[in-house]
Amino acid sequence: MSQAVTSGAKVSLTGIKPTGEPHLGNLVGAIRPALTLTEAYDSVYFIADYHALTSLRDPKELRQYTRSVAATWLAAGLDPKRTTFYVQSDVPEIFELNWALSCMTAKGLMNRAHAYKAARDKNVEAGEDPDAGVNMGLYNYPILMAVDILIMESDVVPVGRDQLQHVEYAADIAGSFNHVYGKNYTFKVPEAIVPDESRGQTLPGLDGRKMSKSYDNTIPLFLPEKKLLKLVRRIPTDSTPVEEPKDPSTSAPFRILEQFASADHAHVVEDTRKRLEAGGMGWGELKNVLFEVLNTEIAPLRERYDALMEPGSELDTVLAEGAQKARDRAGRVLSQVREAIGLTGVAR
Ligand code: ADP
Ligand code: TRP
Repeated sequence: MSQAVTSGAKVSLTGIKPTGEPHLGNLVGAIRPALTLTEAYDSVYFIADYHALTSLRDPKELRQYTRSVAATWLAAGLDPKRTTFYVQSDVPEIFELNWALSCMTAKGLMNRAHAYKAARDKNVEAGEDPDAGVNMGLYNYPILMAVDILIMESDVVPVGRDQLQHVEYAADIAGSFNHVYGKNYTFKVPEAIVPDESRGQTLPGLDGRKMSKSYDNTIPLFLPEKKLLKLVRRIPTDSTPVEEPKDPSTSAPFRILEQFASADHAHVVEDTRKRLEAGGMGWGELKNVLFEVLNTEIAPLRERYDALMEPGSELDTVLAEGAQKARDRAGRVLSQVREAIGLTGVAR
């Protein structure tokens, strides 16, 4: 089962920005779907610590989140034999290609990038200089992301909807390069895979809005049991009395239960749905069911996560081996690009 997908398979790549402790929404919306893709694709997943540096200024925090995100993916079932799994800053080839592609990217394209435009609009609204607080990392962010994608010859890039424009930019940048140097080397043009939001795959958080670090409403994945129970109790519900029938689809705890539960707990989800619809089940009881399911499913992952987070654990070896694999892949592409554009130093 743990064999690498054979060469010739399409490449699926995604980056995870280490800006906080992973939460239930990340597991359901990003980690699980990406792990499913590893069955059919040559998968390349990495921790985007260079990208996090555009907003994180505390070295301890950056290190902690990088390890924590890596440990989370491994605990959730990522098999490093099957997936090329690494930390972005361990692969200097990425940075070399970053310069080359910067020189082929129109500044106007960056001016139109959503994240940069949003920062400018906010400044203008506040009567500030439009570029106040904008660092060049934020401005160049989409180029670095294009490099991540192109250097690994990615076919598909599973991302949240907010990252769609960045993948389109990567395709644009590949197109610009191919237009000029296509006779010598062509980049593969990537495509995004985004979740279908019409299927309601957004996990609500502690205030009923989308669970997100930016709203400070998350349930972190690896809380100790007691804290997990405390947070589950804080999920909002309305004041419908116990006896009355309830609509499960508008209940935040039920939606979390439904989206989080694996096939092992499908029967619990269906039973609970029927009991809510029939009346007689209160929100307190629903939260107990949710806690039990979360805790039962998370417990084995938490144990593995805690072990991986110990200093000197297997995590370091896994990431060192991943970096080597990633550098081999990136190096093969980079040397062809250097050749194609005329950067052929004698040392190589
Ligand atoms: P956050 O909003 O907490 O900062 P990120 O933007 O880092 O989360 O999200 C990383 C990935 O996790 C994205 O692919 C995103 O789609 C997914 N994700 C985040 N929050 C949720 C959620 N509440 N429901 C489903 N998927 C989510
Ligand atoms: N920008 C992505 C985010 O904020 C993270 C990321 C960096 C990424 N490089 C990538 C995602 C390459 C997909 C492909 O979530």
